Amino acid sequence: MVFDYIMDKAEALRALHDEISADRTLPLREANLVFGEGSLHCDVLFIGEAPGQKEDELVRPFVGRSGQLLNKMLEEIGMRREDVYITNIVKRRPPENRDPSPEEIAAYKPYLTRQIAILKPCVIVTLGRFSMNYFLPDAKISRDEGKLIRVGEYFIYPLFHPAAALRSPQMMATFRKSFLQLPRALSKCKELQGGV
Ligand code: URA
Repeated sequence: MVFDYIMDKAEALRALHDEISADRTLPLREANLVFGEGSLHCDVLFIGEAPGQKEDELVRPFVGRSGQLLNKMLEEIGMRREDVYITNIVKRRPPENRDPSPEEIAAYKPYLTRQIAILKPCVIVTLGRFSMNYFLPDAKISRDEGKLIRVGEYFIYPLFHPAAALRSPQMMATFRKSFLQLPRALSKCKELQGGV
């Protein structure tokens, strides 16, 4: 039954959350655990880098300036934030908003892998190069953003990080253009998965 299926996903995510919370080997444990949020039956999963200050304070992903841009773009393509799922590779804030280190990414990686396996989205939108390189180690963000790329059982749609778009009008134009193509990319994924 659909209800049982949704409950199973909710329970699996709750169990995963509790496991991360209890894992004393993880780095950055002084910060809050920002697990992720959104629809359990999402078609689209957004993956960023790591929470920033605002995200750490509110214990929610993408609620600062980058999050506002993400919300605005979702609205433009007729999607609601509640219909997608949003998370990060590294689930705790690195101090001073520095980039997550390779060790931090490696430590949180198995948990992201399990989170994706529970959610089973149609398309994974990676925000920024760290998240893109998690799936596509050899990809270059300036070359590969906006391309729909199949990686095993997943379809990856790399985009610039919203923070990068906010820093440069040129990047903003590219980010916007590719974001507006997301519904098309999603339709393509569904078609290739035999869903439409
Ligand atoms: N940047 C990210 O990569 N993730 C967030 O949650 C917020 C800002």
